[in-house]
Amino acid sequence: MTSKILIRNLWKIYNENKQNEFFALKDVNIEINSGEIVIIKGISGSGKSTLLSLVGALSKPSKGDILINSQNIAKLPDIFASKYRNKEVGFIFQSFNLLDGLSVYDNVKATLVLSKINQNDLKEKINIALQLANIAHKSTQMVCNLSGGEKQRCAIARALVNSPSIILADEPTANLDRDNSLIFVNILRKFKQLNKTVIVATHDTIFDNLSFVDRRISIVDGKIV
Ligand SMILES: Nc1ncnc2c1ncn2[C@@H]1O[C@H](COP(=O)(O)OP(=O)(O)O)[C@@H](O)[C@H]1O
Ligand SMILES: [Mg+2]
Repeated sequence: MTSKILIRNLWKIYNENKQNEFFALKDVNIEINSGEIVIIKGISGSGKSTLLSLVGALSKPSKGDILINSQNIAKLPDIFASKYRNKEVGFIFQSFNLLDGLSVYDNVKATLVLSKINQNDLKEKINIALQLANIAHKSTQMVCNLSGGEKQRCAIARALVNSPSIILADEPTANLDRDNSLIFVNILRKFKQLNKTVIVATHDTIFDNLSFVDRRISIVDGKIV
């Protein structure tokens, strides 16, 4: 299952009609075909995280549409938005958002607590995700004892365990050294082979000149340029 993303006339206005009103996204239009890898480049504060949170249905736009395989997630009631998020989207955050006191395995498992699958399928799904992210060898280790790169691979396994069709990565290499950033680049290549639709928000030059990246989009002050 893959997903096409169509973003049309998208606006995000924080504190709308208040004194501190702020236009974070201004009439954004992007079309991403299923299986494409797209890099969104922009300096801090340009609107990258805002854009990813809208595509992931973590928040709602002020105006505009986000069509995922023709379904307009900008207009979805919350219950359907969370269904979409759990089924179709894998998030990889800069800060990893892991549970430090749990093992790698249990962090990945935590994503699946609400899904009704049997124990054997659950184990298999988790193990496949751990292998894809190159972290299976650390599955029993507590997250607080992992290196930065290992934490990130744990976060990648967690993002993959639902078999999402869309992966949203927000500054995935911001806390990593060069070796671990290159590991992420290889995982990105794997996403391409798995036919995932991927958006990476970054200002890391490591994503320049990658042959398997389909497109680079620049965002400045909430506008695509
Ligand atoms: N909840 C919010 N309320 C008000 N302003 C916000 C909120 N979230 C983000 N912003 C502002 O929107 C702009 C874009 O933020 P963000 O999308 O996080 O940019 P980036 O991820 O590119 O650094 C920034 O100026 C930020 O301060
Ligand atoms: Mg950000």
